[in-house]
Order: sequence, then C-alpha cells, then structure tokens
Amino acid sequence: MAFRSSRWYSGNDRNSYIHRAWMRRGLPREAFEGGKPHIAIANTASDLTPCNSHLNEVAGSVANGVWEAGGVPLNLPVVSLGETNVRPTAMLWRNLAAMATEEMLRANPIDGVVLLGGCDKTIPSLLMAAASVDLPAVVMPGGPMLTGHFRGAPLGCGTDVWRLSEEVRAGTLSREAFLRSESSMIRSRGHCNTMGTASTMACMAEALGMTIPGTAGTPAPDSRLLERSHETGRLAVDLVLQGRRPSQVMTRASFLNAIVTLAAVGGSTNAVVHLLAVAGRLGVDLTLDDFDRTGAGVPLLVDLQPAGRHLMDDLFRAGGLAAVLKEVEDLLDPQAITVTGRPLVEHLAGAEIWDESVIRRRSDPLLPDAGIAVLRGNLAPGGAVIKPAAASPELLRHRGRAVVFDSIEDVYARLDSPDLDIDETSVLVLRGCGPKGYPGMPEVGNLPLPARLLEKGVRDMVRISDARMSGTAYGTVVLHAAPEAAAGGPLAKVRTGDPIVLDVAARRLDVDLPDAELAARQPVTIGHARPVRGWERLYVEHVTQADRGADLDFLVGSSGDHVGRESH
Ligand code: FES
Ligand code: MG
Repeated sequence: MAFRSSRWYSGNDRNSYIHRAWMRRGLPREAFEGGKPHIAIANTASDLTPCNSHLNEVAGSVANGVWEAGGVPLNLPVVSLGETNVRPTAMLWRNLAAMATEEMLRANPIDGVVLLGGCDKTIPSLLMAAASVDLPAVVMPGGPMLTGHFRGAPLGCGTDVWRLSEEVRAGTLSREAFLRSESSMIRSRGHCNTMGTASTMACMAEALGMTIPGTAGTPAPDSRLLERSHETGRLAVDLVLQGRRPSQVMTRASFLNAIVTLAAVGGSTNAVVHLLAVAGRLGVDLTLDDFDRTGAGVPLLVDLQPAGRHLMDDLFRAGGLAAVLKEVEDLLDPQAITVTGRPLVEHLAGAEIWDESVIRRRSDPLLPDAGIAVLRGNLAPGGAVIKPAAASPELLRHRGRAVVFDSIEDVYARLDSPDLDIDETSVLVLRGCGPKGYPGMPEVGNLPLPARLLEKGVRDMVRISDARMSGTAYGTVVLHAAPEAAAGGPLAKVRTGDPIVLDVAARRLDVDLPDAELAARQPVTIGHARPVRGWERLYVEHVTQADRGADLDFLVGSSGDHVGRESH
C-alpha cells in the first residue's frame, strides 16, 4: 500500500533525500521506506490552556499505540485555546485554530491524525480542520477533572462560579468564603467537570463516531484514559490501512445522532454553533431547524450540572455515555458508523446504568423534552436558541418590558444603578455581542441580575442576546439571535420599554410592535467592533452568522489532502 507520506519520502532524488534526512534523527531508515503509516498527533497541550496541560502524557500513550500497530507517531503542536484566559473570547480564535491546523495537516507528510483536545474550543477546531482535510482521523478527548469539594459539597466548574458569585451579590455568601472556594474548584488535571462545552463536545465527538466508543467522559486522571489513548493510537494506524475518512464517519445520520445525544445529556448550547460549523466543512446539509426537529421529544436523562446536580466523574461511574445512549437507542440512526467501522449502536450492547440517580431511565426522565428550542420572530428572523433544560419552566412563556444594553460594559455600568427602572418581569436585552459585533460572540448571554432583585430572592429572568453563554451556565436565556445587531439584525432597533414576548412552546420571540414602527426605526450601532487589521479584520469581514456556525465564509467546505507542489 502506497501511503500519502511516501510522496515525500520514497525515491532516490534530491527532494526525497531532503525529506528523509531531516526527519531521521534517530528514527530507523525503514520508518521512511513506505510500509508504515505516519500518524500526526495534533496536540493542543499548552500551559496556557490549563484544561489541556496534561495532553503531552496522553500523546505519549497515543504514540506507543501507533508504534505498536506498526505506524510512526509524530507530535504536532497546534493552536490551543484556553477558555478562561483567551481574550476577548476563545470563540474569536476557533476558526483561526481550525484554519492553522487544517493547513498543517495538509502541508505535512502524514497519513492520518489523532486529535487531542479538551477545553471548549479545542475539539471543535480540530474536527473542523480534520473535516476540511479529510485525512483518516480520530479524536482522543483529554477528559474531565475529578470533583472538588467545598464545605463538604461538590463544586461544579463554572456553574458554581456563576452561582456563588450571585450569592455574594445577593448578600447570602461572604466574599471571604467565596474566595476560599477558589482553591477547591479545580481538583485535578482535566477540563470542566460539569456538562459544559468541553464535556459536551467530547460527547458530540463520540456520538458523531469520531472517538473509540466508550472514550468520552473518561476522567483525565483515570489510568483508563491512558489505556484508551494507547488503543486510539493503534486505531489511527488501522484507519489509514482501511482508508476510513472523516467524511465517511461524520454523515448527516451521525449529526442527527449527535443532536439526540445533546438533548439526552443536557449539553451546551455552544454545540449548536460547533456542529453547524463542522457540518459546513463536510458539505453535510445541517440546519438550525434540525436541532429543533430531531431534539424534540428527546428526554433529559443525565442529572449533571448545569441542568441538574452531578458531575462528570459521576456520569462515568454510573455507566458513561454508552449507558445514556442505550436508553435512547431507538432514536439513533443504526447506519451511522464510527471510526471502528461499525455502527455506533452496535457498541452499546454491553452498556448498563449503575446509578439511576445520575443516569435516569427513559421511563423516568428529568425532563421529557430536552432538545434545544429554535425560536423565530421579528427579533430573530434567522433564529435564536434556548436550552429548556437550564431554564425556569414558568418563564418559558413570558411578556415583559425590555431593558436594553448596548454592550456588556454597559451592563456592568448600569445594572446596579438605582436609576435603572427594572423589576423581575423585565426582559434584559443585550446586543452588539454577536460574531461581528464583539467580535467573536462571547459567552456573556447569561448576564447577571440586578443585586436588588437578587436580594429579593429573584434567581432568574428572561435574557435575550446575540451572544453565546458558557455551557456551564443556566437560566432562561435566549442566545445566538440572528442576524446579530452588528449585521443589521432587529435587536439593534429594540428600545427600553418595548414589550417583548417569549413563547418557547410556540417557538416565538417577538417585540410586540407594528412592523411599520420597527421598519422606521434607525438601528443603534454603539459599541460594534471595527477592527482595521489582522485576524480580527479578516474575521469581521468574513464570519457567518450563528445559524451557519459562525465559520468564515471562505473556510466552509473542504480542500482534501492534496498538495500538488514540492517545496524545493
Ligand atoms: Fe477549559 Fe472549562 S475552562 S473546559
Ligand atoms: Mg466556555
């Protein structure tokens, strides 16, 4: 079998000499004689992405598996995004990471790739890259951290930061106690232990068929993570021998399986944007409405924060994702294959639930209908999303006065001002926070509530924006309104005092004003980004709206793995 890498290494000419000579450095010559698949380990390990800082050890186990199976492993550090560090938002750089990784996979002499991710944007960017190159690829998620405890109670990463900080503002928790919880928040290596975006995207990768089934959710410090990494390295070699590519695994059927999974685990709203972007790279026809249609009637079975109580190591102990999927097996497409070449559903045979307080039976769900709802109306003609599992049931149908903010800084400046005319029935509207406006669509959609309402015991209000929210966040929060204000969307025309009507059952989001009045209003453009150079300029000029995955328009699609020209 002639591997792609042999186009670099085989032959007796000057160029193959150069490719081999510079790579040998202790590797045996037969590593370059054409019989061994060369497997890149696209590695997002970085000290500044703390959730992924252990991935070099994972890469070592992957490399062992590649060697064992007769391949040659090659560590390839790629752009890594640390959700808690990177400003103005990691989402601004997701497409940059995807583009850089795509080009390096194509440009290098490799035959297949293992994708090592963890923190929120890392698995999405790796999947987008792999989809556009379409070399044999498998994901190895870095895994969640173990549960930390504070005052005898478990701490959920992210979710409890939001909750405890609101308790401080409500006056029910001292700032000193809040700060003491900080050292307990991150107990071990690994990514956030709630069903936030990182855990969700690991589950999405598995539901799409892009991990060895049973891998997602293995805690980062668990020795089985390294065992699975070793197996993933072996599998990568087999993928190359079989010629199995991402485009054969991530079909429309796989995406629909991912949408069912997203509802059953109570996953992050960010998965909507990421799955749309990955599908766009593959030419899979996936739309926002598929989330609503396919997610409708799928029960919430996983009792994890932020929708419920437990954390990722509880899910793993209770049977893991496979046990969840087994409960909804009839909703999964039996044709959708995984990287193993066998259908996802075939891998569910031995799955069992060991703790029904963590993974509920289908007959006793936490919520009968947990799919992400897609809303439309004169405030979001292109669609907006809400996660009913994280919302207050009594607010899912609501009419209230808009209180409008032009930026997140405007929120911080005015929210607690005694002059702000607001009560618990008001609807908080935030604009200028979409892909173009911020830029990068930050996770600010779960805007804080006014302290004086928190003190009264209010813990949720309807919030609407063109932003995203953290997968660890909760509340009756309408997100991703498209088109965003900075792209001429109607949010730019809403004024404080306008009556807003939310009706999730009817899938509507409207401002109750005559069309003529709305049409006559001038859009407000305060605070929209206008970058003059660099990536931000490229991004703002080319980013698509949230309903298309917020990818860059010229990155949609695939270029395959072919490079026609030599470098010398
Ligand atoms: Fe990295 Fe949450 S901050 S996964
Ligand atoms: Mg996040």
